[in-house]
Amino acid sequence: MAESNKLSLVEFWKAIAIATAIVAVFATIFVWSGFYNVSAQKPHFEVTTWLLAQIRRQSIQYQSNSVPPAPDNLDDAELVTLGAVQYQLGCAACHKAPGWTGSRVGDAMLPAPPPLTWVSEKWSPRELFWIVRNGQKYTGMPAWIAYEREDEVWPLVAFLERLPSLGPDEYRRLTSDRSSTPGFSLSTGRAVIEVCARCHGLPGEPPRSNLVPFLSAQSASYLRRSLEEYQSGTRPSGYMELVASGLDDTTMDALTEVYAAAPPPAPAGEASEDVSRGAKIFSAGLPGQNVPSCAACHTAANPQFPQLAGQTTVFLSTQLQVFRKGIRNGSGYGRIMTTIAERMTDADIDAVSAYLSTLPPGMFGTGSESAP
Ligand code: HEC
Ligand code: HEC
Ligand code: HEC
Repeated sequence: MAESNKLSLVEFWKAIAIATAIVAVFATIFVWSGFYNVSAQKPHFEVTTWLLAQIRRQSIQYQSNSVPPAPDNLDDAELVTLGAVQYQLGCAACHKAPGWTGSRVGDAMLPAPPPLTWVSEKWSPRELFWIVRNGQKYTGMPAWIAYEREDEVWPLVAFLERLPSLGPDEYRRLTSDRSSTPGFSLSTGRAVIEVCARCHGLPGEPPRSNLVPFLSAQSASYLRRSLEEYQSGTRPSGYMELVASGLDDTTMDALTEVYAAAPPPAPAGEASEDVSRGAKIFSAGLPGQNVPSCAACHTAANPQFPQLAGQTTVFLSTQLQVFRKGIRNGSGYGRIMTTIAERMTDADIDAVSAYLSTLPPGMFGTGSESAP
């Protein structure tokens, strides 16, 4: 009895081995024959489409468990505006937008990028965050260009949450599309600065979101170096890498000179209780933590040290956190700040940022003065 059981077990495994070998032979013939048609013109079999949709849904639901909780200001205009401009520049060509049909490339893709008008009903904010940050394999849906800049993704989610209630006019206003205003012309080179202006405002104007820095008080050489660092990816930012990648040397020179020469905008910051502690940190540093005085460098006329006065609290504190994480230290300049930021607590960062936001932009020098 025991003997025949053993035999049948051996035969069972033999049968499995033979079946596996047959499948492997057919699979090899199938792959090598080129019989399977990878054309984007040939839709998947229905069962493949169904299976892919299940895998995708389960994967997104499971993987998005690691996403931090959504901030409670997702309806904040500062986030929505920045998200809307980025959407127009980086997503609409595939996904279309209110009053805007996108490019015809999307229609020729398989799967075709779906319109996203109602996508916020299908996915939660954290799931949307995960999709926008990670992209999707085998579909053409790209990951966030600067994957390490997790802090940059929420404005896109904020925009997708707002999308169902956006008509074409409101969308055009939000994305600051000036292409029909007088003076706009592709042949005069004004087109590129109109792209920058969608987020930074034109030279001399305030930025359109408090997440975006003003450029007007900075030296041309600091602005120029920043653009090169975005272009090469040594200063990661999904917003800036997208626009900087297409700029040639002449255009970069022209843009940075015209921004550096413009008068700085009016101050935006408001007094808060952090301000007096922040003022101390700025002038004297934090001796107990080995943090040097910020003023020692940031009030000097060295055109490589950016002007900080009057930038918003959220922009300054974000940059300090980015330095602290070590993801803006691709250059020697960044490494100086990484060493300093590593010694600061969240509270120190918030206090000094709040203080700097109350100062008049340009008070330690302007781009036109400090340009070499
Ligand atoms: C090159 C084209 C392309 C670009 C650019 C692109 N996407 Fe996609 N996206 C796709 C495709 C294709 C899919 C569909 C994936 C699928 O069906 O599995 C997709 C899916 C999505 C989804 C999920 C849709 C759903 O119904 O589940 C979201 C959300 C999304 N994209 C947001 C964005 C955002 C935000 C951007 C810009 C930052 C962007 N996409 C840029 C091609 C693109
Ligand atoms: C979609 C919005 C958007 C557009 C369009 C845009 N920027 Fe920016 N820009 C940003 C954001 C956000 C930052 C902060 C990025 C970071 O965290 O490093 C930034 C930062 C910069 C900086 C670094 C400033 C500093 O103080 O460190 C420069 C220089 C700059 N942008 C120039 C430009 C130029 C020139 C253009 C047009 C070709 C442009 N930007 C278009 C959003 C934008
Ligand atoms: C030894 C000189 C030095 C000291 C001291 C210093 N910084 Fe900096 N800081 C720099 C340099 C150089 C950069 C440019 C880094 C780069 O381009 O990546 C910079 C950049 C910054 C930026 C980014 C601004 C922008 O527009 O992107 C912030 C914010 C900043 N510093 C805040 C501070 C604060 C706050 C202190 C004091 C606690 C401080 N720094 C002390 C040299 C210094």
